[in-house]
Order: sequence, then C-alpha cells, then structure tokens
Amino acid sequence: MNTLILGSGGREHAFAWRITQSTLCDKLFVAPGNAGTAQIATNLPISYNDFEKIAEAVLANDIDLVIVGPEEPLVKGVRDYFQSREELKHVLMVGPDAHGAMLEGSKDFSKNFMAKYGVPTAKSETFTKDTLEDGLRYLEDQKLPIVLKADGLAAGKGVIIALSLDEAKESLTEMLVDAKFGDASSKVVIEEFLTGIELSVFVLTDGDSYKILPEAKDYKRIGEGDTGLNTGGMGAVSPVPFATEKFMEAVENQVIKPTMAGLKAEGIKYNGFIFIGLMNHEGEPYVIEYNARMGDPETEVVLPRIESDFLALMIATAKNKLHEADFTVSKQHAVTTVVVAGGYPGDYRKGDVIVGYDSVKDATIFHAGTKPENGLVLTNGGRVMALTGMSNTLEKAIQKSQKAAQDVLFDGKYYRKDIGLDVLRY
Ligand code: AMP
Ligand code: GLY
Repeated sequence: MNTLILGSGGREHAFAWRITQSTLCDKLFVAPGNAGTAQIATNLPISYNDFEKIAEAVLANDIDLVIVGPEEPLVKGVRDYFQSREELKHVLMVGPDAHGAMLEGSKDFSKNFMAKYGVPTAKSETFTKDTLEDGLRYLEDQKLPIVLKADGLAAGKGVIIALSLDEAKESLTEMLVDAKFGDASSKVVIEEFLTGIELSVFVLTDGDSYKILPEAKDYKRIGEGDTGLNTGGMGAVSPVPFATEKFMEAVENQVIKPTMAGLKAEGIKYNGFIFIGLMNHEGEPYVIEYNARMGDPETEVVLPRIESDFLALMIATAKNKLHEADFTVSKQHAVTTVVVAGGYPGDYRKGDVIVGYDSVKDATIFHAGTKPENGLVLTNGGRVMALTGMSNTLEKAIQKSQKAAQDVLFDGKYYRKDIGLDVLRY
C-alpha cells in the first residue's frame, strides 16, 4: 500500500511512525511533513490545502491511500475534490467529506446536530451581526462565566470565556461587528459554561462500525498548573483514570451512538476520526466540541497504545471494513511532553539548531515544527517536538517523557514540568 499523509505536525509524524511499522506499507509520503517524517518517509513540498498539487502527486506516485491529518483540508473538501475527479475516485481516504467535517467546521452546525440527535451538550444560542441586539439582551439573562465561540475554524483561538457581562458584550460585538476572527466569527455561539474535568475521546469509524481509541487528557495552557494562554497542547496522557468503565459506557451510549445515528440520518458517509472533546460534569459526559480529525498532541499518546496494525486499521476505515479489523490496546501508560519555541503561543523564534535528540533513548521523539537543513534539524514552528514516554506505571512514563524534554536542546526551549502530575494525584 502506497500511502500519503497530509500534514506536518507531531500527529502526522506519529501516523508515519506507526505506518512504517506495518508489513502492509510500501511507499510512504508526507505533505509537507517535517524533519522527523523526512527520516522515515518521503516529504513532498506541497501545501495540504493545494488539492490540485496533491492530486498530481497521488497520480504520479501511485498512491492508494490518503490520510488527512489537519481539519482545514477536510473542511475545504479534499474528499469531495477527490470524489469529483474520475481518475481519483478510486483513491482510498481517511477523513470525512466537507459535510461531515462541519462537525468541526461550524459550531452552529454541531450544536444543532447535538440538539437534534440528543447528544448532551451545554445550552446555547447562535447570533449573527443582524441579531446582535438580541444577543446582547440574551447575555443579560445568562449566568457568568459565559462562553462565546466563533462559528468557524479559528486555529483554536475562537473561544472566549467571559467573566463579566461587560466583557461578554464587548467580545460579542468585536466578534460579530469587528470580525475579530474574520469570517469565522460572522456567527457566534453563546454557550453555558460547564464545570468539570475535560477528556478527549477518539472514535475511528467507516460510517457503520466504529472503534473507540484510547482516551487522552490534553494540557492546553502554556503555564504550569494550567495557567496562562491557550496553546495547541503542551502535553497529553493516556489512559486517563477518571475515564472509568462506567463513564466510558455513558460516553458510548449517550454520545457516540447518537452521534453515529445522527451522521447516518443526515446522509453523511463518515470515514475517519471523530475527536470528541468532553466535559465530565458531575459524572455525566457533555460534548464541548467535535473535531473531524485526531488531536495533537493526543495522537502522540494514543497511537503508541494501539497494538494492532495501524495501517490495516486505516485501510479498513477507508474500505468500509472496520468491523473486520483487529483492534487491541496496550495497558501501558503513555505521556508526552511538548517542547516549544521561545515566545510561543505568541510570536516565537524560528530557525534555531536543535541538538541533544541523539541522547534520547527511553522515549519516542515526534517532530512537529522542525525542518531539515544542511544535515541539521532546525526549529520551524511553535510546538517543536513531542516526547513520548511509555511504561507500566504512569510515574515512570512521566519520568521518561520529562527526561527526553530535558535532553533535547535549542535556544529558547520551554516545556511544562507538570504534565501528568495531576493525573498521578487523582
Ligand atoms: P474549543 O475550541 O471548543 O475546544 O474550546 C476551547 C476550550 O474552551 C475547551 O477545551 C474548554 O477548556 C473551554 N470550553 C469550551 N466550551 C466550554 C464550556 N461550555 N464550558 C466550559 N469550558 C468550555
Ligand atoms: N490538542 C487539541 C487539538 O488537537 O485540538
């Protein structure tokens, strides 16, 4: 099987790492990839949003399977594009069409979907520029804090948790009238604030059958103790102790099954990942958001725990044969720590030489924002590498991951030293 992975982060390096371990793997390409994927696959210098160039590369390299990493090409319709061209129709793909990707691409769509199919979620209303006055009045009757969400994709920045009514009104006006998040905030969902512990649940589906992948906990804030600005994710752990059998049963029955039934009822043929961001609110699951892809850095702890052939799972997903696929999960603990460039998540440094990774022996290195240049590996993004430790105990997995984060060196490096410690205490 010749495979192309679209994307350039730690998630895509983890996909590539697992796929090269498969006996089914022939040639592996990543577009555009990073310095890590360059070591185990062929990087193609193509943007994952350039569908024509991707199509050319698929035909030129006899690619049988395309796995889409990030949300943007999904929301822009990469699957629909392949289906619309006769010579590309046969190409297998993991990733939903544009309609399915609206679960992530439009908060208004996903909230309506949840309401229609009885998926538990926070109470909400959607407003536009034309209904701004109604929105401002609506805010007056809501409890604080209150959550405002840009409808469209906003690179993880479109959510505002307002602590006061003034802040909420100001934010709503900025989003709708001043287009704070561009087109993404032409609609704004105002949502009740839910307290509880967050959990990431991942479902792999071919539209009929599904597998629940290992769950994970993400560390979103830049600072230790979950303080400071939001990031793409500073680390992750899997398994998560509060994802008990009882809680996961509730997730399957109250969230996953109605979601699958809803997709069918809407006529959405979904072949891909569904990443469900959940709040455990007083022991019950509530959906915070859907994503049409895997999480990053969650993938870097989820994939190491999947024992079955990952490429076989991807092929089965694309071929509507997931019910036949072997799926087993390791009981080991996986912890990943992300090392980031100085300044991230604000303006950050780029082009610093990375050293020290050769001395990492007890952890798996997943490159994210890196690029190869003249035999060196340079920083090329905010999140530079994710370092995953695995062990029979959470404590040892943390130690391995943290030791690796310490060993990798570049100017301005920063990482959180508390990844997994809250879970250890739980
Ligand atoms: P999202 O972009 O939807 O993942 O939201 C970003 C973060 O905002 C989530 O991971 C939560 O921590 C927080 N958040 C979103 N919606 C809510 C909510 N209704 N109640 C509490 N926190 C929320
Ligand atoms: N780590 C969160 C995400 O991938 O959206």
